[in-house]
Amino acid sequence: MQKTWFITGASRGLGVQIAKAALRAGDRVVAAGRRKSAVTDNFGPDSDQLLAVELDVTNADQAQSAVQAAVSRFGGIDVLVNNAGYGQLGFFEENNIESVKAQFEPNVFGVFNVTWAALPVMRAARRGHIFNISSIAGLRGAEFGSLYSASKFALEGFSEALALEIAPFGLFVTIVEPGPFRTDFLTGDSLRIGDQNAIADYDERRSSLRASFESRNGSQPGDPAKLAEAMVLLSNEAKPPMRFAAGAMAVNIATTKFTCMQAELDLRRQLSLNTDGAEGGW
Ligand SMILES: NC(=O)c1ccc[n+]([C@@H]2O[C@H](COP(=O)([O-])OP(=O)(O)OC[C@H]3O[C@@H](n4cnc5c(N)ncnc54)[C@H](OP(=O)(O)O)[C@@H]3O)[C@@H](O)[C@H]2O)c1
Repeated sequence: MQKTWFITGASRGLGVQIAKAALRAGDRVVAAGRRKSAVTDNFGPDSDQLLAVELDVTNADQAQSAVQAAVSRFGGIDVLVNNAGYGQLGFFEENNIESVKAQFEPNVFGVFNVTWAALPVMRAARRGHIFNISSIAGLRGAEFGSLYSASKFALEGFSEALALEIAPFGLFVTIVEPGPFRTDFLTGDSLRIGDQNAIADYDERRSSLRASFESRNGSQPGDPAKLAEAMVLLSNEAKPPMRFAAGAMAVNIATTKFTCMQAELDLRRQLSLNTDGAEGGW
């Protein structure tokens, strides 16, 4: 069956590759970007398979209009990819509430805007698949990534719960957890590093972590085109997974996380169980 994909952040990076892979698979693509001209630069003019729409995911009205345009053009949405986002790095204590809010705008609230717009259409069709692009930082918090991780953990909790809420309508949710992929993610055009409240205690680690992230730009092991192809395969599965870790680094980090969590749970299992009251039961 020819599917219709709706992909946010289709102006650069992973979003472009996902759109290209879906087009190669013969599917239709609604490529959404906050600068429509950047989308068109990648894909050329609209065609039987392609519709470019303007969408800043932080704008709820624009999300509704973009989904309506998709429905008018292709009749529905089979695969929604909530991909748009960026990384806010820096130590929590050196960031401020403005950078927290800015980080959550596309990574969490933007996903809500687009999902609210698309769900009525997908629910009515009684079939469909939502990919939420998280990060391995959405499974394991890392130093210098407290705000980014907070946003992606929020996305993961939302996705897990949403999956249960919409499963009866034949809708699936898959959380994608990439490790480092070679996109614009670590460039000055995307990444933000907060040090508005610079604190001398962090000086040394801030300098070395900043340099480390800057030096990794361009040498990330992940190939976005290959991840996009994997997502096309997942979109064709009858029962797609709840989570998909992308790249060896993500697989290793996830494995370590689960092993440590299991060991910690086992070590204090009795102490945990002892906190139940004498009565009641769920
Ligand atoms: N690359 C990695 O290593 C990596 C790892 C884990 C997770 N991820 C996740 O993968 C997703 C895609 O990132 P990427 O690697 O492709 O980075 P990228 O090359 O920097 O692309 C980011 C995309 O998000 C779009 N975007 C950002 N804010 C937006 C907004 N408010 N409204 C609409 N579009 C917006 C950008 O649009 P503009 O062109 O208009 O700026 C761009 O298309 C993100 O959610 C990111 O957190 C990436």
